[in-house]
Amino acid sequence: MISERLFGVIGSGTMGGGIAQAAAAAGFVVHTLDTNPDLVKAAYAKIGERLDGRVAKGSLPRHDRDNTMSRLHVAKDMAAFKDCEVVVEAVSEDVALKRKILGRLDAAVTPRTLLGTNTSSLPISKLSEGLNHADRFLGMHFFNPAPVMKLIEVVRGEKTSEQSMVDARAICTALDKTAVKVKDSPGFIGNRVNRPFYLEALHLLETGEADIRTIDSALKTVGGFRMGPFELLDLIGLDINLRVTETVYEGFGKPARFAPNSIQQKLVSEGRHGRKTGCGFYDYSNGEPTPAYETKARGASSWQPGASLKEFAAMLEKPADRAMWIYARIFMAVMNEGALAAESVALPRDVNLTMELGFNYPEGPLATADYVGLDICQRLLADFHTETNGDDRYAPNPLMNRHVAKGELGEKTAHGFLYHAL
Ligand SMILES: NC(=O)c1ccc[n+]([C@@H]2O[C@H](COP(=O)([O-])OP(=O)(O)OC[C@H]3O[C@@H](n4cnc5c(N)ncnc54)[C@H](O)[C@@H]3O)[C@@H](O)[C@H]2O)c1
Repeated sequence: MISERLFGVIGSGTMGGGIAQAAAAAGFVVHTLDTNPDLVKAAYAKIGERLDGRVAKGSLPRHDRDNTMSRLHVAKDMAAFKDCEVVVEAVSEDVALKRKILGRLDAAVTPRTLLGTNTSSLPISKLSEGLNHADRFLGMHFFNPAPVMKLIEVVRGEKTSEQSMVDARAICTALDKTAVKVKDSPGFIGNRVNRPFYLEALHLLETGEADIRTIDSALKTVGGFRMGPFELLDLIGLDINLRVTETVYEGFGKPARFAPNSIQQKLVSEGRHGRKTGCGFYDYSNGEPTPAYETKARGASSWQPGASLKEFAAMLEKPADRAMWIYARIFMAVMNEGALAAESVALPRDVNLTMELGFNYPEGPLATADYVGLDICQRLLADFHTETNGDDRYAPNPLMNRHVAKGELGEKTAHGFLYHAL
């Protein structure tokens, strides 16, 4: 007889419900605990509705839907997790609450059970304090919607063992997800590396370099993104996004490059949180989104592309126009942060994958830099550093400099941030 693989989930909200669905669909028998069994039942009913929708569309066989639903169980208490291979905690983002729950969970399971937390922003090492099985505790950061998104950031705390990292990776594979490994650090990979996507867009707006529609359009037409930064801010919620920025800013000791932007702070304080409040950077009250925030544009009329931008644009086979410059300013800031993360908290490959699978980048920033050539990127970064009067988003990044010094220039030399040799 094949033994069942047991998966525990604590919290049945947006993420817990999604994680339970992903695990049950992958064949795990799932036990979910919330403060009240009715909450779990309601979450399972929502899963049933989602699966029914897919059956109606013909994208899921009915028996698969029924099998998935039959693997979902309501846990009465922590004892339900005793023999679980893994239990993922997905309760509200509150240190005291998470620590209390993790302490009780730790006492209820065997040392074999992997303990995961889905926290987006709390330090893993802080959550592990006092646990008996701290070596078996790590971050398993799923993305929303969890049944759909293919990425899980597996976050290693101070006491997490190598074996636990290996086991977590195997569980991600069994869930049909891609695991990326990251050391416990603010924003992990994705929420850190993606900060300049918003912050540099806000900076361009604030300094009158371009309006929101022009910036959004540049990222879509030149960069191939499905949505521009302001459209995304409105979708995510300016308030939620601001909280992430504040967490990363404070977590790193308030470096200028992560400083929250005053325009976003002002809109949040006015209750303009984006689509959910009917207005953010765009106004949604008349059906078609119309720009609802403008700054006085200046400087663009006399603008001319520099030599490094022309080289960068030529590699992308696109004109070195103003839209390219806007895209390049945002891209280089993201790439620079990605390179910093790649030499301190994660593998370059994982930084790249995170942005593709977790943040829908058409291509990861380190792969694009390798394609363009790290020598060209280095020159463009230096020009941006000068033109912004030394903005630390464009401070020369040591990893890239080392690669260039060694002649590892990206795809053209088969080695850059990533390996390209066959
Ligand atoms: N929402 C996202 O997009 C997202 C993405 C990645 C990670 N996260 C993280 O996932 C976690 C959960 O977020 P969410 O959006 O699902 O929150 P949510 O508010 O939708 O759900 C939280 C759930 O926890 C339950 N809960 C509270 N106290 C409990 C207790 N004592 N025992 C058992 N259950 C309890 C609540 O009843 C609720 O069902 C947070 O740590 C968050 O940072 C959220």
